Amino acid sequence: MSIPTTPAQRRASERHNSDRRGSSRRGSIDPRKLVPMDKMTHISGTDDFNVVFIGAGNIMFGSEEGPWNHSFRFEHKLGRRLKVVALIDPATERAKEVLKKKCDSFVLSAYENTRVFKTFDDYLKNMPKNLRPRAFVIGSPPMFRGTLQPGRDIETQILNHFPGVALFIEKPIATGPVGEIEEAFKIAKQIEDTKTVCSIGYMLRYLKAVQMMKHIIEENNLTVMTTIARYACAYEAIAKPDWWDKSKSAGPVIEQGTHFCDLSRYFGGEVDMDTVVAHSLEWDENAGQLSALKIDESKIPPENRIPRVTSATWKYDSGAIGTFTHVVALQGTNYSCELEVYADGYCLRLVDPYVQPILYVRKPGDDHEQTYRFRDDDPFFSEVSNLIDIIEDIEEDPEAACILSSYEDAVKSYQLTWAIREASEKSRAAKLARKA
Ligand SMILES: NC(=O)c1ccc[n+]([C@@H]2O[C@H](COP(=O)([O-])OP(=O)(O)OC[C@H]3O[C@@H](n4cnc5c(N)ncnc54)[C@H](O)[C@@H]3O)[C@@H](O)[C@H]2O)c1
Repeated sequence: MSIPTTPAQRRASERHNSDRRGSSRRGSIDPRKLVPMDKMTHISGTDDFNVVFIGAGNIMFGSEEGPWNHSFRFEHKLGRRLKVVALIDPATERAKEVLKKKCDSFVLSAYENTRVFKTFDDYLKNMPKNLRPRAFVIGSPPMFRGTLQPGRDIETQILNHFPGVALFIEKPIATGPVGEIEEAFKIAKQIEDTKTVCSIGYMLRYLKAVQMMKHIIEENNLTVMTTIARYACAYEAIAKPDWWDKSKSAGPVIEQGTHFCDLSRYFGGEVDMDTVVAHSLEWDENAGQLSALKIDESKIPPENRIPRVTSATWKYDSGAIGTFTHVVALQGTNYSCELEVYADGYCLRLVDPYVQPILYVRKPGDDHEQTYRFRDDDPFFSEVSNLIDIIEDIEEDPEAACILSSYEDAVKSYQLTWAIREASEKSRAAKLARKA
């Protein structure tokens, strides 16, 4: 990139750099630059790229429930440069087990010297200074992060002890009580003020289909009129009792629907939180009975049981309208998720983003939709790949890498999901009060 000389050029350059590095602005990536993992060579260089993994669970090392597995993407991006210097997890046996599997495989060089720690404090006390990480990857449960309180303040701990080291943090940024959201905004400010590279795991933003939607909107200078999102999960396959307990998971909109609330914001912009209205179909209503539950719901206190359907509407600051429905009704394993984005003359309809993304596009001058399919797209790899390119500060092609989800932006998505939960609970309480 040429050196900016005028104040306007400097401002544009600063804006560009902060957009790339995960500022609160929404960026986009040319969909042609999202290269599948098997078509990409490892990043160049010979020096070690030290990483600390926090959490040794499914998101970090994979599970049968889905395609997530951050360690696998880091291995592919960094090749022999990857050195996982520490794995922090209170369940040290689980951590040792996953490391053993890695050390029995061809990625041994990344894990042969990995040290396991129960807590971040243990890591701080015992880790040699010369093994300073380039990035922390945080995949611990969200109830242990996103606040300023001891034991749940991992972000601030890292910012204080490792200034300048990049962060990758899984969604949602927290699941604590609603009153703690202000603390999450304070963490966002710390990240922004210290210009820390930080990416949040809203990987659907990195789908080629999503970036194509973004480009159609930008190229045609469109103003979004409405976003219509539907997230129907396959509940039969969800066997974690905590997921069914609002006091543990914060409920399905906050824990899971968050991906689609975030995508809605990615297209619709800032939400006027005061306008959020919502209704729910609850577990004790006739229409809310489920026949294939794999957990014993009677063990969960009635007030903590999750709704079967939550449906919300809101106004964006732009005047556009957002709607979102989360459904706990399908059996089997595949989810049914769709997002429609409307603008004057256009409908962009994203179908099945988790499994086989298809984009249907209707444009002015043609009543028929055009269909686009995206084989071999891996948004989990794209989010890791973009983060590492930013950390490595690869500048030959400054348009190539961009962090699409900043901490502050992710706090706003979290805030929207809480607003939906609270609005639905308010409607239910009002209905019960009318009946009494
Ligand atoms: N983007 C996606 O599609 C996606 C998919 C799966 C999970 N996730 C997210 O990843 C996060 C983790 O989910 P998971 O499925 O891996 O959970 P998990 O229960 O499989 O693993 C979490 C691990 O963190 C450990 N842990 C608990 N407290 C800790 C602490 N204070 N510090 C470090 N580790 C701690 C646990 O012992 C466990 O091993 C959640 O936020 C979840 O929403 C995202």
